[in-house]
Amino acid sequence: MAFVTCIAPVNIAVIKYWGKRNEELILPLNDSISCTLSTEQMCARTTVVASTRYNENKFWLNGKEENSNSPRLINCIKDIKEKAEKVESEASKLNVHICSENNFPTAAGLASSAAGYAALIAGLASLYGVKGDISAIARKGSGSACRSVLGGWVRWHKGELADGSDSIATEIAPASHWPEMRILILVVNDARKKHSSTSGMKQSVKTSAFLKYRVEKIVPERTDQMVKAIKTKDFETFAKLTMQDSNQFHSTCLDTYPPIHYMNDTSHAICDLVHAYNNIKGCNKVAYTFDAGPNACLYMLEQDVPEFFTLIMNVFPSDLDSVEYVKGMPLKVSVLSEQL
Ligand code: DP6
Repeated sequence: MAFVTCIAPVNIAVIKYWGKRNEELILPLNDSISCTLSTEQMCARTTVVASTRYNENKFWLNGKEENSNSPRLINCIKDIKEKAEKVESEASKLNVHICSENNFPTAAGLASSAAGYAALIAGLASLYGVKGDISAIARKGSGSACRSVLGGWVRWHKGELADGSDSIATEIAPASHWPEMRILILVVNDARKKHSSTSGMKQSVKTSAFLKYRVEKIVPERTDQMVKAIKTKDFETFAKLTMQDSNQFHSTCLDTYPPIHYMNDTSHAICDLVHAYNNIKGCNKVAYTFDAGPNACLYMLEQDVPEFFTLIMNVFPSDLDSVEYVKGMPLKVSVLSEQL
């Protein structure tokens, strides 16, 4: 028997991935950019055990057995095993039992599948002795997962090749590059979302003309501007692009037919508060971004946290389920323990 435990943090996109050009290989319509959080908060912890006694693969999420025949899971295991065979790993011949736990709300629009698949692929790679890029395999589990296998600021390149081999994640800058950056996560509602990202984006690709415009005319230039803002630590521009991209993603959801609403009244009130605060300050001090759910991720610099945090607690004393304060984002997926 061999086992390994991995932890992988969630990542918060500042240029959103929304829409696939290939459903099976999970190839996106556009590049996206995110920041991977620290492994101390909001991460998935996944243990993978390989044994001669297992006659099938099995998978538990937060203590509940899940379908281990999902095409995505099967694809990921197949890809890792193919790579493992090249390094003649003995363990690659064995079936696996996978046990994954999130320390934050699952499927509430907080990138739980990203962290889950990143931890799983890192675990399998470590167990089977696979080296090199694993982002292309994590991508096949859940698109955004490819960004969680790296730490710091990460770009997922949409790639050009039909087999998806160039649709990988690369580092823009390590977390140490912008150590003052902080994230507040306002958990407005920790219930499971009604529309999964997978089905939502599929519907947008089918029905939204605005998505096509976004992908062709907006994201390429915005991505370049975002890379520059991160590299030069230009918070003013970073914040503007982040908020604009979040708003455009949610506008695309509204342009989808039937429309998809991920944000709620509290989410919109948070946006208004951020703009009012930035307005009073005369520059962008805080940036919001929302994924496929009502929960707000707020980027800000350390010096501005105490005042804005106090403001949030006063304005929304009872509307939030919880507030997570992410102090740093220095790490990528880490292997906690292994016995090979
Ligand atoms: C709104 O990666 O969860 O969070 O590839 O179908 O598994 P699948 O979708 P997923 O979509 C994430 C969408 C998003 C934006 C982002 O993280 O870039």
